[in-house]
Amino acid sequence: MVAYKDIQASNASINDANAPRVAVFVGGTSGIGQLTLRALVATGTSLRIYLIGRPSSEERSRRFIQELQTVNASAEVIWVEADVSLLAEGKKACEHIKSRESRIDLLFLTTGYSPFGVRQETSEGLETSLVLSYYTRMLFILHLLPLLRKSEAPRVVSVLGGGMERTSSINVDDIDLEKPGSFGITTAQPHYAALQTVFLDKAASEHPDVTFIHAWPGMVNTGNVWRGLHASQSILYWFIWGLLEPLIRLISSTDDVAGQRNLFLCTSAAFGGRGVPWTGQAGTSTLRTRDGGLFLANYKCDSTPNDKVVHVLREKASAKVWEHTHEVLRPYL
Ligand SMILES: NC(=O)c1ccc[n+]([C@@H]2O[C@H](COP(=O)([O-])OP(=O)(O)OC[C@H]3O[C@@H](n4cnc5c(N)ncnc54)[C@H](OP(=O)(O)O)[C@@H]3O)[C@@H](O)[C@H]2O)c1
Repeated sequence: MVAYKDIQASNASINDANAPRVAVFVGGTSGIGQLTLRALVATGTSLRIYLIGRPSSEERSRRFIQELQTVNASAEVIWVEADVSLLAEGKKACEHIKSRESRIDLLFLTTGYSPFGVRQETSEGLETSLVLSYYTRMLFILHLLPLLRKSEAPRVVSVLGGGMERTSSINVDDIDLEKPGSFGITTAQPHYAALQTVFLDKAASEHPDVTFIHAWPGMVNTGNVWRGLHASQSILYWFIWGLLEPLIRLISSTDDVAGQRNLFLCTSAAFGGRGVPWTGQAGTSTLRTRDGGLFLANYKCDSTPNDKVVHVLREKASAKVWEHTHEVLRPYL
């Protein structure tokens, strides 16, 4: 287990020499993304951050950016408007960033919500929570990989369910969960998390110079579940929520702790050997390497390779998931 005091000590030693200089946050308009962005800016380093968000979040995000400016005048936070539940909008945001930058050090991905209720398709014909939790994130990775590879310490952090995969989590015969009975709260989220691990495991094997992290954040009381329930508009779910909410509040990480832990994931050499020097136990990738690859990490920032399960998923699903994902994303690449 990585002690919280060691995380704080590591974060306290972030400086201009080891911090990301250019970062992209997709999902930084609220929740874990926002907490992490705030913690990163508060390190006082000079950096430029692209904050991607939908129009409905612009007003409060501009206030957030102003607040960040008072915390660290050397941090430039650039608002990029895009409703990334649409892949065409995600593509536009990536093109914008690519036209302005030649290098990216950190890509931090947190879009999504708990898929309560029935399927909700976007105008592009894909289920919305699937797009936010999976396709949009992979789209940003594929677009920005060439810029990430120009960094000395490139890192992609995606927050969802790393380490929680089971061999039965992926529905390989219905990746987009379109068939009757495929989509549901108990099946969709584990499916998204496993898809992500399988895709990132393959991307990491092709790009060993990039550190990929798929993190499971534990419970952080960001309202994420609440939003999923609200979207479902089901009385049953509201009832369940009424019972569970006090418990969730009790067991959740505080905002500050969640921000610091995710900042550690963004910067520490514990994952991949590049970044803020780390003398504790080094993380192990899904390929059992330490100097690069895909690291699965839990909410305490422990590396949880889950390698037996990942091995089975790799054999059973990797080629199909890789091919299908590229097929879906091709018009937007
Ligand atoms: N919080 C937890 O305890 C927990 C536990 C396990 C897994 N997770 C997963 O970890 C990830 C991050 O969680 P979080 O708590 O930070 O989530 P969050 O606070 O709900 O933030 C998620 C991000 O997704 C965006 N988003 C949500 N619905 C959208 C839509 N329909 N169209 C466009 N953008 C949308 C939000 O944008 P706006 O700001 O515009 O709403 C926000 O930037 C999520 O995938 C979540 O499912 C969270």
